[in-house]
Amino acid sequence: MPLHPATRLRDEAATTAEFAADVRAGLARRPKRIASKWLYDARGSALFERICTLPEYYLTRTELAILREHAGAIGAALGPQPLLVEYGSGSGTKTRLLLEALQDPVGYVPIELSRSALADSIERVADAFPQLAVLPLCADFTAPLALPAPPRRPRRVVVFFPGSTLGNFDTREAVALLARMRRTIGAGGAALVGIDLRKDRATLEAAYNDAAGVTAQFTLNLLARMNRELGADFDLDRFRHRARWNALAGRIETHIVSSVEQQVRVGGRRVHFTAGEAMLVEYSCKYTQAGFERIAARAGLRVECSWSDPDGAFALELLRPP
Ligand code: AVI
Repeated sequence: MPLHPATRLRDEAATTAEFAADVRAGLARRPKRIASKWLYDARGSALFERICTLPEYYLTRTELAILREHAGAIGAALGPQPLLVEYGSGSGTKTRLLLEALQDPVGYVPIELSRSALADSIERVADAFPQLAVLPLCADFTAPLALPAPPRRPRRVVVFFPGSTLGNFDTREAVALLARMRRTIGAGGAALVGIDLRKDRATLEAAYNDAAGVTAQFTLNLLARMNRELGADFDLDRFRHRARWNALAGRIETHIVSSVEQQVRVGGRRVHFTAGEAMLVEYSCKYTQAGFERIAARAGLRVECSWSDPDGAFALELLRPP
């Protein structure tokens, strides 16, 4: 399927240059820190798909169960003839469930930086909904966006942001992203945002330290990506994955820890790691309902309705401008 004319395609060279600049800046910080968006090259995305099926990673199956259980109510609350805009496009089954629940959707706009992930999502949706206008946007959803115009005029814009991906942003960034979402949906629109809720430390830490070691592979793939794309020489056997619950901040913090004192070459520079030095690669924030409502309010959005599972592990939040 040809891409919509509004699609801003990004060439791989530009992405590699951005990655190199981000890594250089992140390795110069104390403590060292690399943004989690760089975890998702083709291998990282494939590993994340596997994480979603792990017994310890309850998030995906719980969110799917909520969508299945409440599809009718969610569709009715979102209203007829929406243009559905999805931030990220790695959620084929969730998208399908939501599209089935919507009344006469006029189009679907997946927004995704990775061209291959976008292509997969277009194919999946186009196969399942041959009549639906699919208008993919190859772009960064954290930056300002101009939405492509669907062939029919929508009655409202609905943003779908599942998976608790919002939790990968710190509070300040999450507020900025929700505020941008508010501008995208306008006065008559709505947003459906998946959030992971706070729970006991053991459950949370198990979800990010699975017994099969897939999450560790996912995290350490960032070093392999730097080796592949930036000509770095990280020895993956001399680093380890660590994910811990920070109760005060309300988030899982994932670090890559250097097992020994060592020097690594990255993009022609020598980078020093002390033994035990931890480099931050991901936050996964977990919310209370009240805390999430406060964050939404700071972005000018009101929680109109919230659907959860019987254990209160995860929630889908319906947001609207007040
Ligand atoms: C995409 N995101 C919501 C996942 C999370 O739970 O923070 C990424 C992930 N990292 C480790 N496991 C899953």
